Amino acid sequence: MENPGNLVIVIFGASGDLASRKLIPAIFSLKRQNLMPEKYAILGVGRTKITSEEFRAKMSDSIVSFSEEEVTDKDLISGFVKDLHYHSMDNVSENGYSEMKSCLREIENNYNIGGNYIFYMATPPSMYEVIAVNLAKAGLSKQDSGFRRVIIEKPFGYDLDSGRNLNRTLHELISEDQIFRIDHYLGKETVQNLLVTRFANGMFEPLWNRNYIHRVEITSAESIGVEERGGYYDSSGALRDMVQNHLLQMVGLTAMEPPSSLDADAIRNEVLKVFQSLQPIKEEDVPKQVIRGQYTGSFIRGECITGYRYEKGVSVTSRTETYVAMKFYINNWRWGGVPFYIRTGKRLPTRVTEIVVHFKQTPHHLFQREAGKLTANQLIIRIQPDEGILLKFDMKEPGAGFNLKNVNMDFHYKDLANIRIPSAYERLLHDVMLGDSTLFSRDDEVETAWKFLSPIQWAWATNPGIKVFGYPAGTWGPEHANELIEGDDLTWRYPCKNLADEELYCEL
Ligand code: BG6
Repeated sequence: MENPGNLVIVIFGASGDLASRKLIPAIFSLKRQNLMPEKYAILGVGRTKITSEEFRAKMSDSIVSFSEEEVTDKDLISGFVKDLHYHSMDNVSENGYSEMKSCLREIENNYNIGGNYIFYMATPPSMYEVIAVNLAKAGLSKQDSGFRRVIIEKPFGYDLDSGRNLNRTLHELISEDQIFRIDHYLGKETVQNLLVTRFANGMFEPLWNRNYIHRVEITSAESIGVEERGGYYDSSGALRDMVQNHLLQMVGLTAMEPPSSLDADAIRNEVLKVFQSLQPIKEEDVPKQVIRGQYTGSFIRGECITGYRYEKGVSVTSRTETYVAMKFYINNWRWGGVPFYIRTGKRLPTRVTEIVVHFKQTPHHLFQREAGKLTANQLIIRIQPDEGILLKFDMKEPGAGFNLKNVNMDFHYKDLANIRIPSAYERLLHDVMLGDSTLFSRDDEVETAWKFLSPIQWAWATNPGIKVFGYPAGTWGPEHANELIEGDDLTWRYPCKNLADEELYCEL
């Protein structure tokens, strides 16, 4: 794999959780795989007043605690952290940036690196514009002596207007190709594998349309609650936190037309076309097409689980959704009339993300099915955990007559020798260093996704009659979500942590 050119990575919000849990362990892992540039340095920037030495010690502990692979080699860690530096400043203070600039120049000279910078905004979103403006004022975003790239984390705004405003402000300061909007789902190997499954195998494409597919179901379930993020989450909710970005991106990759090449814009243009073809949900149809829920307290395996409203940072009268399920259509020739069902929630029975493609039944039922059930083929693309692909189809049970049994044909990533699946942040950081924006959300994608969700946000905000259903923590969400699925006897798939298992109640 290619090594990026020499550079400095500046992490704003370096004393926060994202830097210590994800970013530094990911960069460490890239270094271990020899994927970092020959010469590089990392400058942590934060309000906390600590020295570079203290920052190195803190990050050494993070590497041990949060690396996906066990790290025991202390020399390896100390060899890595010597290239970490820290600068304490307030992101809103203009003067801080000229001091930071001198600090960067000094690093550049000491390492003989040249002027390539990546600025990672691992800060609250309210800081993005402030930092971008100050970087521009300090002359740090102009690409005269090297590239200047800015990474931002979601949320990219809170609705269509704020998303547009954020894009507008950033575009006044830097160009779109300098902006890398992280949707960490796009960094997941198995999400990228969707492209390979669909476009490297000739057998799926002829079936991948309204003629053969009955419905598509995408689930992203989490067993954890809001943990320490109640304050943020209560003003966000599942629609903004998961649907606007991760779930819609998975819809885009599942439904897109084959791109003309693997070029960043070729792929993103096709995803954008899917977003533009999403059939708008009318405000009056929101209660019929979108179900929201909120977890309530319960006991899971003897442990008392706090209800959402009693989590730290959450209002006791909160109506924020911790669960969303919705049904919608894509208005184009490939998908016209095929329902897409997506759902996501916290405190569901297990952590699982998967895409289920339900094929249509055979036009004529020749054989008797198991207990009189009509089954149809399903292709399940498991994003996490037990990453893999499962095809479900009918076989004859040995013996007299023609009794059918629905069986599984499964492939598990873990069977691909001992290849480690790299973390999403490793992949995405490496791509930014190489300047490859394929796996990052583009401005128009973000705005079109917000536009699709606007009527839902508006209906929820203005119509208190639209219910927020409670569901006990550890269950599959509000029962009303089942009513979304068109067709008698059809339900959501209830996945278990093992790809091949499916049960309403299964091992956690
Ligand atoms: C984040 C959301 O983007 O994705 C979190 O803000 C959520 O609320 C997380 O927990 C889920 O990511 P993953 O990779 O664990 O599925």
